[in-house]
Amino acid sequence: MRGLGGKGVLVTGGTSGIGKATARRFLEEGARVFVCGLEGVAATLTELAGLGEIAGTACDVSREEDVARLVTEATGFLGAVDVLINNAGTAWREPFLEITPAHWDALMRVNLRGMFLVAQAVSRAMVAAGTRGAIVNMSSTNGLGGEAEYAHYNASKGGVLLLTKTMAVELGAHGIRVNAVCPGYIRTPLNASITPDDAFVAAYERDHIPLGRAGHADEVAAAYAFLASDDASFIHGAELVVDGGQLAIM
Ligand SMILES: NC(=O)c1ccc[n+]([C@@H]2O[C@H](COP(=O)([O-])OP(=O)(O)OC[C@H]3O[C@@H](n4cnc5c(N)ncnc54)[C@H](O)[C@@H]3O)[C@@H](O)[C@H]2O)c1
Repeated sequence: MRGLGGKGVLVTGGTSGIGKATARRFLEEGARVFVCGLEGVAATLTELAGLGEIAGTACDVSREEDVARLVTEATGFLGAVDVLINNAGTAWREPFLEITPAHWDALMRVNLRGMFLVAQAVSRAMVAAGTRGAIVNMSSTNGLGGEAEYAHYNASKGGVLLLTKTMAVELGAHGIRVNAVCPGYIRTPLNASITPDDAFVAAYERDHIPLGRAGHADEVAAAYAFLASDDASFIHGAELVVDGGQLAIM
């Protein structure tokens, strides 16, 4: 991809699954990377250190004080955050009729409040520094359609799409591009924890995904890298679906 070499890239949720694959991809593109996650920071830095300049910190993106510290530490290491990959998130299955207000709030705190807090803090830093940066927020195919037993998750990811579009409208004048990715079913530790068993996954791949397989984390990392690169210089306020054709089914 054009224009990623030497860039400072912050990847939230960069210690597992899609985020870790994304940290790897940006290092391979010659970028410098700062990751955060709830856990797994030390192991991630050990795993990826040979690929380039990387550092990280443990933090909870739903906590304002953690986000303030994250942006300070990331800026200190990177010099400036040129690219934000706003990726941290969580999910669990729960029938709509059984979701408690506490469970609703717990999911929204991470997936929507956390996404907003990081996006706003990094955007403020970009505007203050005059950085003409790129931000890519993590939505999902679940932000575009209503999968059963994920009402809170679907609502959070739909919210990310309109957060993305509104940020694009307001931040374009500052030269900051903002887009979203909408992955379908990707094999990650998160999905392994919420998918019943291998037979379920095989049936799901056959019945719901025209390419006949789940996606890989590095296939989402590639979409993140494209949207952050100069190859996407006129793509703004958009969502890029990465789902093996799942949403194309009528
Ligand atoms: N796996 C999929 O099929 C899929 C599909 C569409 C969207 N997504 C989204 O992709 C993102 C990454 O998912 P994944 O499948 O790689 O999951 P994962 O569990 O493998 O990784 C999640 C990462 O987010 C971090 N994280 C979670 N809560 C956090 C918090 N409160 N503060 C800071 N970091 C936190 C974790 O530490 C970890 O690094 C999520 O936003 C998820 O909703 C995943």
